[in-house]
Amino acid sequence: MQVAKTVREVRAWTKLARADGKTIGFVPTMGYFHEGHLSLMRRAKAECDLCVVSLFVNPTQFGPSEDFQRYPRDFARDAAMAESVGVDLLFAPEVEEMYPEGYQTYVEVTEVTRRLEGAARPGHFRGVATVCTKLFNIVQADRAYFGKKDYQQLKVIQRMVKDLNIPTEIVPCETVREPDGLAMSSRNVYLKPDERQAATVLYRALCAGRDAILAGERDAKKVKVLVEQVIATEPLVKTEYVDVADAETLEPLTDLQGEVLISLAARVGVARLIDNITVTVPD
Ligand code: PAF
Repeated sequence: MQVAKTVREVRAWTKLARADGKTIGFVPTMGYFHEGHLSLMRRAKAECDLCVVSLFVNPTQFGPSEDFQRYPRDFARDAAMAESVGVDLLFAPEVEEMYPEGYQTYVEVTEVTRRLEGAARPGHFRGVATVCTKLFNIVQADRAYFGKKDYQQLKVIQRMVKDLNIPTEIVPCETVREPDGLAMSSRNVYLKPDERQAATVLYRALCAGRDAILAGERDAKKVKVLVEQVIATEPLVKTEYVDVADAETLEPLTDLQGEVLISLAARVGVARLIDNITVTVPD
């Protein structure tokens, strides 16, 4: 596995790869890898000739009171893990390489960022869209792999790639969960043992919502209240929002039909966790 710190190095590497007729699969990350990241890398490797991973904790997607400074970082561990699944190039730039002095260009995706994480974290998706545009331009991959755990992020990136004619295919990948259902996240390291146990309520609540829909519930409000009630059984978990929306547009629903997204954000200790589930409403 090669490690690149600069855009120049990545360009030289990908130029050779393309001259060789190789396809490139790309996995953008902020590091502190877990099985969710590794599954994206394995899939990129299985579907493309070469796998490029970026490791960059992107400051522009964090709000002023968010966890940019204490976001977990361990380059040596990440590099070893990436190498173990056959990653070919690890791009780990410094902040100055991505946002040099005088930087002033940002990418904004409008409607699909208005609600949910976009409303809870102003500026977050502007940072995500900007860094992903830059990374897509740098790597020029055939395919880029995104987990459904960050469901709205996936929708934002799909919209952006379409609107800006970026020639990289976005491949959505299933959320990877711990055996007890907790969605894997680098932020799970913030959880103390009792909080880690309490956090399992989030997926149980989403499953309760899904099961209610599958059993015939068609009132979005009732599904939302049910999910909130399940979460409320855990005193260590504070719900920030529970939302029931159209899975494509992310617009809120009243009567359920089609493909539905149940999503949530909650505080567990210092950790802010998000999770979601999609349900196809039976006819
Ligand atoms: O999902 C993430 O880890 C980040 O938002 C991403 C896509 C790497 C952009 O910084």
